[in-house]
Formats: sequence, C-alpha cells, structure tokens
Amino acid sequence: MNTLNEYSNYILPFYAPANFVVKKASGSIVWDTKNKKYIDFTAGIATTNLGHSNKLLSKIINEQTKKLWHLSPLYINEPAVALAKKLCKKTFAEKVFFCNSGAEAIDGSVKIARKYGISRGNKNKNQIISFSSAFHGRLLTGIALSNSKALQNGFHPLPKGIKNHPYNQIDGLEEKFSENTCAVVIELVQWQDGIISANKKFITALKKLCKKYDALLIVDEVQSGMGRTGTLFSYEKYGFKPDLMCFAKGLANGFPIGGILTNNKISDAMTIGCHGTTFGGGPIACAIGCKVLDLIEKKTLLNNVFKKEKLFLKHFNAMNEELSCFKDIKSSGLWISLELNISNDFNVDNLIKKCHEKGLMILKANNTMIRISPSLIIENELIVKGNKILKETILELQ
Ligand SMILES: Cc1ncc(COP(=O)(O)O)c(C=O)c1O
Repeated sequence: MNTLNEYSNYILPFYAPANFVVKKASGSIVWDTKNKKYIDFTAGIATTNLGHSNKLLSKIINEQTKKLWHLSPLYINEPAVALAKKLCKKTFAEKVFFCNSGAEAIDGSVKIARKYGISRGNKNKNQIISFSSAFHGRLLTGIALSNSKALQNGFHPLPKGIKNHPYNQIDGLEEKFSENTCAVVIELVQWQDGIISANKKFITALKKLCKKYDALLIVDEVQSGMGRTGTLFSYEKYGFKPDLMCFAKGLANGFPIGGILTNNKISDAMTIGCHGTTFGGGPIACAIGCKVLDLIEKKTLLNNVFKKEKLFLKHFNAMNEELSCFKDIKSSGLWISLELNISNDFNVDNLIKKCHEKGLMILKANNTMIRISPSLIIENELIVKGNKILKETILELQ
C-alpha cells in the first residue's frame, strides 16, 4: 500500500501533512517508514510533553486496557474520579468536567458561563469578550472567539454575542463590558502571532472589570498548560484564580482528553443534562492523566523547562548573530516562536520542508513564524543536534 497516495485518496484535505509516513517514535525521535530518523521539536503540537511512547505511560495504558475501556459518563469509573481529585488538589479548582479536546472544552466553558450568567437573574447575561490573535480551536464557538478571517471565512453564521478587543490593551476595555457580559475568554500566553504573554497590569485591569460587571474569567490553557511554560499551568505566574480553565493536549500525553476546571459556586448553577459527551472521563485517558500530572508537577522537571528554554535561546541567538535570520525570538518555557527575516527561498514553508529532508521536525505558527514546542524532557544533546540541522538548513535557503 502506498500510504502517501492513499492519504489523499481517503482523507479530507484539511491539512497539508509532511511528505513522509511516520512508523514509530520514542522520546524526541521519530522514524518514518523508510527508517529515516527525525529529531522532534514539535511534540505533536505541544502535546507529548513527556516524550513519545513514554514507557511509564505505556504500562498504565496496557494495564487499564485489560480492566476497562469505556462505559460513558453514565457510570462512574475510578480513574476519572482520581484524576478529577488530583486536578483539584493541584490547582484552584473544586470541580472538573472531562471531554475530549481543547475546542470542545472551550465550547463547554462558554455554555457553562452562559448558564451561570442567566442564573444571576439576568436572562440577557450571555455576552462574551475575547481578544485579538486568539486561538481557541476550530469548532464554531472557537472560531467565533477568534478575530481571524482566515479561521472564520466560509463558516458563517457564527455563534453571536462575542466582542473582540486588542490583547494586552487596557484602553477601551471597559467599553466592551456591560451588565450583560457573562465571561471573558483569554489565553495568558498566545501563540498565533508569536509567543506573547499577557501583561500583568492588563490581567489586573481585566480581573477588576470582571468583578465590577459580575463576569467570569475563562482561561484557555489548552496549549500553555501541563508544564509548557515552566509552571504546571501558566495562570500560576499571575497570582489569581480563574473562574473556568480549559485544558487538553498534554494531560494524557497524546491520548485524547480535554476538560474544564471550575469552582463550587459555578458548579452549583449547573443542572443534570445541560451538557455532556460520550467519551468524557474515559478510564484509559484518565488513568494516563493521573500519571502525567504526577510526573509533570515535579520541581526538577519544571525547572528543567527553563534550563532547556535557555539552551534553545542560546542557539537561536547565536544563529541570529551570525546569519541575521530572525526578526524576532520570543519564548515562554519550552514554547518558542521565531519570526523569519524572509528573503527569496527563505520562508516558513520551505524551512519546514527542508528541515524535514534533513531530519528535523518544526512547526508553523503563521506565514512568517515558526514555532518550537518539543517534549519537556528532550535531551540537551538533541537540542544541540536539532539546532545544528536548523542552522544548516537556513544557510542553504538564505
Ligand atoms: C490555545 C488553544 N485553545 C484551543 C485549542 C483547540 O484544541 P484542540 O485542537 O484539541 O481542539 C488549541 C489547539 O491548538 C489551542 O492552542
């Protein structure tokens, strides 16, 4: 079977994947079906934070598949309750909802905010505020929350009641609020226009306005969570408790899981049957999640995220001094954006393609930027080797 041809014969063309077929992966190394080796600086889009085929996690999956795969949220399973308890103990949360992806978590959090809003005695309390350059997934609610024409075009009508405001801009922010605002949705670290962290003053102003207008603060930690920025979740750096927080990606290291964290006050306004999903809180995903949480919250692992970030930055800065290849380098933990000084053949798509040819996997952020989001436990030796490949590739394209 020619899998590359069969792919376009049988799979809807939403992606333009790399032109090789992956056979296996371990740690931060990936092999294709021709046994070619790649260093992985992508980690499945910031998801396999503990490396591919992690042995401790494989053991958990194997054991769980012998016990119970699926029964639906109509029946209680032990791993789901254990994971919910762990998440509550390690965060601000008092209650958890499990689903299967980041986009689904975002959609659910908007539903919860609207239901809670209405429970406050104002039937029009359903308006949402979101920010420029936001990415909240590809479902209708997520694209409505973004202000990206590229994400929205062709998919109207979109869910209504959403106002967008420039990220990190306090000016004019209050004008977007009213007594009908039920929630604000924000990524504390954005990636779509490069890695941009929310400014602490901006978050303080936002919190104040949320309090004044009785609006909930929904934090999207789908990509920034699970150690990516050097803390278990990035809200910890800001010293506040979100009302709702969406997670997904890294929690089960690549096994699908998503969810929402919240508090008892909001939970008390929910009613049976108002939301749900067949696969949410599945025992396999949750058993993995329990182990992942234990491993990621370890101080040494999180400290290493900052050390490895420094090593990456040292290489990128040195490369830039020599080749003037980047307009901008931004990072938050092991999440780095490189804006290219585009010239002739030196552009994002060519760079990714050539890196693949030379055995390095990197990600696109947008048409001018690449994104680096390796496993949080990538070996220093691989960071050095991968950077050597990146430099050689840039030299060939410039
Ligand atoms: C910040 C953020 N929110 C939501 C999503 C959507 O997650 P998923 O792709 O699991 O639906 C993503 C995905 O990249 C994301 O980065």
